[in-house]
Amino acid sequence: MQKHVFKQHFQTSQSDRSEMKGHRPLAIWLTGLSGAGKSTIADALETFLIQKGIHTYILDGDNVRRGVCSDLGFSAEDRSENIRRIGELAALFVDAGIVVITSFISPFEKDRELAKKTIGEARFFELFVDAPIEVCEKRDPKGLYKKVRAGEIPNFTGISSPFEKPINPDLRIDTTVASVEEEVELIWEKIKEKLQ
Ligand code: ADX
Repeated sequence: MQKHVFKQHFQTSQSDRSEMKGHRPLAIWLTGLSGAGKSTIADALETFLIQKGIHTYILDGDNVRRGVCSDLGFSAEDRSENIRRIGELAALFVDAGIVVITSFISPFEKDRELAKKTIGEARFFELFVDAPIEVCEKRDPKGLYKKVRAGEIPNFTGISSPFEKPINPDLRIDTTVASVEEEVELIWEKIKEKLQ
C-alpha cells in the first residue's frame, strides 16, 4: 500500500456505466489445467454474450503473459503475482460495467480467493473448467505436455506444480462430456440473473 496515495472519487459510478450498457457487470473466472478447455469456452461464451448485446472482454493467460505480466514466470510466487494483477484488472473491467471473462490456470485457492475479494463476491463467478490431466495431456493443443515429458518445461501445472481444485465453485464443467455449445448454455443459465 502506498503511504501518500489517496483514493480519488469520480462523479460517475459503476451503476451509471451499467445502466448505459443495459446490464450489470460480472467477472466470470475460469480456472483449470492447461488444455482443459478454458480458452475455447471463453471464446464461445464471449461470442454468445455479444450476440445478446452484452459488453464483454476476455483476459487470457497466454495473451496477458505477453504484455502486462511479461516479467513473470511460473514459480509459485510469480503465479500468485500474475493472478493478483488479473484480479485487479478484472475489478477495473467490472467497475467499467463490463462482463469480463478471465481465462487463467489460477492454480492456488488463496489467489482465487484474493481475486474474489478484490472484485467483490457479488460480481465474481467461479467456473471450474475440469478435465482429467490424462485427457489434457492427450489433447495437448500447444504441444506443451510433450515438452514437459521431454524435460523442457519445469513447474508444469498438474505434473510438477500443483493445481488446487476449487472447493465450492459456482459452476463446474466437465469438458469431456458436453459440447462447447451445451457448456455455454449451462453457463448462461447460471449467470443470466446476475446480469439483470
Ligand atoms: S497461472 O498458473 O499463472 O494462472 P496462466 O494461465 O497465466 O498460468 O498461463 C498458463 C499458460 O502458460 C498455459 O496455458 C501454457 O500455455 C503456458 N505455460 C508455460 N509454462 C507453463 C507452466 N510451467 N505451467 C503451466 N502453464 C505454462
